[in-house]
Amino acid sequence: METNLKGKRALVLGASKGLGYGIAQGLAEEGARVAIASRTMEGSKAAADKVGALPFVCDTGKSDQIDALAKDVTAALGGVDVLVLNSGGPPPGKAQGVTSEQWRASFEAMFVNLVRLTDHLLPGMIERRFGRIISVISSGVIQPIPNLAISNAIRPALVGWGKTLASEVASFGVTVNAIAPGRIATDRLKQLDAANAERTGRSVEEVAAAAKAGIPAGRYGEIAEFGAAAVFLASERASFITGSILRVDGGQISCT
Ligand SMILES: NC(=O)c1ccc[n+]([C@@H]2O[C@H](COP(=O)([O-])OP(=O)(O)OC[C@H]3O[C@@H](n4cnc5c(N)ncnc54)[C@H](OP(=O)(O)O)[C@@H]3O)[C@@H](O)[C@H]2O)c1
Repeated sequence: METNLKGKRALVLGASKGLGYGIAQGLAEEGARVAIASRTMEGSKAAADKVGALPFVCDTGKSDQIDALAKDVTAALGGVDVLVLNSGGPPPGKAQGVTSEQWRASFEAMFVNLVRLTDHLLPGMIERRFGRIISVISSGVIQPIPNLAISNAIRPALVGWGKTLASEVASFGVTVNAIAPGRIATDRLKQLDAANAERTGRSVEEVAAAAKAGIPAGRYGEIAEFGAAAVFLASERASFITGSILRVDGGQISCT
């Protein structure tokens, strides 16, 4: 399949490792010019060197860094055609007992500043009559995940915003979609399995085995499998897909 991504300019947040890295790698393999951002230049540079990308620093919790990223990436690449909204996951925990400060900080990092970055880069996409905005969300927006209250509560905001934006910009050739990972093998998943083991008094191996038993594919996904979904949505081939959620979960979530 010809993706026509050669020469397209892509910015991937939270891309020094994990899902963001898998997406950056997939886009670079298709010939896109990729900018990788994470909270440290060291992390971004190590990842960027591996995939042939440009490194940037951006903590999605900090609006000044969001503004600077938009400016710096636009200066370096001349614009952004593909924007991948991704970030670190919030701490695990129950719905009860989250402080107002924690809710506000998570909402800033997982929603407000991602929208802010989009607002910076969207006018150029509209002007050029091509754009791809892809949010990394979670299967928790479809089926809430126990002990991940902040994620379950805040990610649906990104979906509601994305679906609304999709209808506003579709006629300009800009699509807005979300990808919902089930369980993809990353450091974040390792940390969640370890926390789950600690909470339930089981070994990490037992926790992982039980989780895999609930996935029809019988295993965790690979970051390259997740990246491939983003590559498709970023491609010209996905031009009539917008306002959608694409699940990448090995069949784990059976409802739509
Ligand atoms: N893996 C899964 O199965 C799964 C399932 C559902 C949802 N998710 C969600 O998908 C997202 C990515 O997950 P992952 O598994 O790839 O996690 P990961 O392996 O921990 O990687 C997270 C990436 O984001 C960066 N990052 C962390 N905090 C950041 C911040 N405040 N601002 C900017 N970048 C930040 C990290 O780099 P630095 O630490 O260097 O900044 C790293 O590059 C998370 O929101 C996670 O909750 C993942």
